[in-house]
Amino acid sequence: MSESVQQQIFEHLFTTKAVGKGTGLGLAITRQIVVEKHQGAIEVNSVLGEGTEFVISLPAKALTSS
Ligand SMILES: Nc1ncnc2c1ncn2[C@@H]1O[C@H](COP(=O)(O)OP(=O)(O)OP(=O)(O)O)[C@@H](O)[C@H]1O
Ligand SMILES: [Mg+2]
Repeated sequence: MSESVQQQIFEHLFTTKAVGKGTGLGLAITRQIVVEKHQGAIEVNSVLGEGTEFVISLPAKALTSS
């Protein structure tokens, strides 16, 4: 992914897929679940034209009851 795409991937409705192909919700929902719900973190390692790695970290114990 380019640097400018990487800046936007967690935004609601952001997609680089063709019209009618992607909703642009996948990573926004993922971020809500991992970061907001579980106080975890998502790290993105991407090299343009090579590949992308997502590293998801979750706390072993829940920090809140929600
Ligand atoms: N594994 C990946 N490798 C490279 N780019 C990715 C990857 N996953 C997501 N992206 C980039 O992030 C954008 C947003 O991803 P997101 O999952 O939110 O929506 P989407 O995949 O486009 O649509 P949907 O998830 O609704 O099918 C993608 O359009 C793409 O540009
Ligand atoms: Mg997706």
